Amino acid sequence: MDPDDHVCLCYRVSLRKLRAYMNHEDPKVASQLSQCFDAGTGCQWCVPFLKKLHEQHLEGKTPDLPISPEEYATRRKSYRQSGQRDEEAERGE
Ligand code: FES
Repeated sequence: MDPDDHVCLCYRVSLRKLRAYMNHEDPKVASQLSQCFDAGTGCQWCVPFLKKLHEQHLEGKTPDLPISPEEYATRRKSYRQSGQRDEEAERGE
């Protein structure tokens, strides 16, 4: 993903905003990312991805998701239609 791509599509929260939030606030648990423009509090699709980004932050890495925004949006659409995440999405991948 590019920094301006949205991780939380419900609330249009970009990877850049999430990185800045983590750098400034250093959240101890992933659920604190909801304080960043309500990320993860809508359809919940992005929650495993937020957890993955938070893990990377705790490991001292630059948080990133190796997925195109198009594929991400397509998979979220499928999730919203079926109510089920694919196995990769369960892992935030
Ligand atoms: S995509 Fe983040 S809550 Fe829906």
